[in-house]
Amino acid sequence: MEKVVSGIRPTGNLHLGNYFGAVTNFVRMQNDYNCYFFIADWHSLTTHPKPEDIVQSVDTILAEYLACGLDPEKSTIYVQSDVKEVLELYLFLNMNAYLGELERVTTFKEKARKQPDNVNAGLLTYPTLMASDILIHRALKVPVGKDQEQNMEMARKCARRFNNIYGVDFFPEPQSFYFSEKAVKIPGLDGSGKMGKSEGNCIYLKDDAKTIQKKVMKAVTDSGPTQPNSPKPEVIENLFTFLNIVSEPDTVKFFEEKWNDCSIRYGDLKKQLAQDIIKFTDPIRERIAQYSADKDLLHKIAAQGADKARQSAQETIKEVRHIIGFR
Ligand code: TYM
Repeated sequence: MEKVVSGIRPTGNLHLGNYFGAVTNFVRMQNDYNCYFFIADWHSLTTHPKPEDIVQSVDTILAEYLACGLDPEKSTIYVQSDVKEVLELYLFLNMNAYLGELERVTTFKEKARKQPDNVNAGLLTYPTLMASDILIHRALKVPVGKDQEQNMEMARKCARRFNNIYGVDFFPEPQSFYFSEKAVKIPGLDGSGKMGKSEGNCIYLKDDAKTIQKKVMKAVTDSGPTQPNSPKPEVIENLFTFLNIVSEPDTVKFFEEKWNDCSIRYGDLKKQLAQDIIKFTDPIRERIAQYSADKDLLHKIAAQGADKARQSAQETIKEVRHIIGFR
């Protein structure tokens, strides 16, 4: 079976961007692929250097993964830092990664701007660590959201370069994977572009009904359409993006018609949207609470996953050492 890898940083709870950009795809892929899904705790150190920020969140994300439907019987679910082979590959890949290309990565430039006092080397080499996560299993497919495209390009570059330098055909070039036609980008409802933890505009899977309602009712809108059938400005398109994801087709059609004949009331739309998000997240939230309470189960699953992930990683790293010339 084809190998699949993906991961999420444990810098907080899972939000709807993570869910619709990545985790739904993880769940759908489990039956047809050999899946490795992990929690990227080393990556978190680039922005959250203190382990106490992370330790708690590793359990959180694990509980949330399970609540979303990741199944440890079908997928290998593990914590990145349990698989030290990744670090060795990271070192090898860094030897052939160049300052110029790493400095050009948009997320590096953004993070450097956001945390000017902590432009660390981990931030710079973030894409080679991500490439190691993927190449350590020689995975072909990587379910990720649109924001990861540049990192994925770097992962392919690392694979190609390794093969070229050592004259082998060892690493396949991993491809981003999504079930839709194009990569998914879940917007924020504050008019700022994407939903993201560092944007501070997230609706979290664990948010209760009241919190979700408050967040949705605060969504940015405009003064309303003045011409029938006019194109929607971005902030309104964002609301419809959400409706399309969580609401019934009839509901979407109803508000589309209201938009087109200029009788739309944003308050009604938001109320409906909040209701539909709550309906959707309610059962997930319940399961998060159940899994979070069972630390023994979480730790057992992480230990099992670590064993399986290490096995796969060891096979790769053994060959890599041999190819490079370490005997
Ligand atoms: P992270 O933790 O920022 O996000 C995890 C996943 O959620 C997706 N995502 C979104 N998708 C659509 N719209 C959004 N608004 C949105 N916000 C987040 C991300 O695209 C991602 O798929 N570098 C990765 C973690 C990582 C990784 C890897 C992923 C480390 N190693 C190896 C794949 C393979 C990251 O920071 O994701």
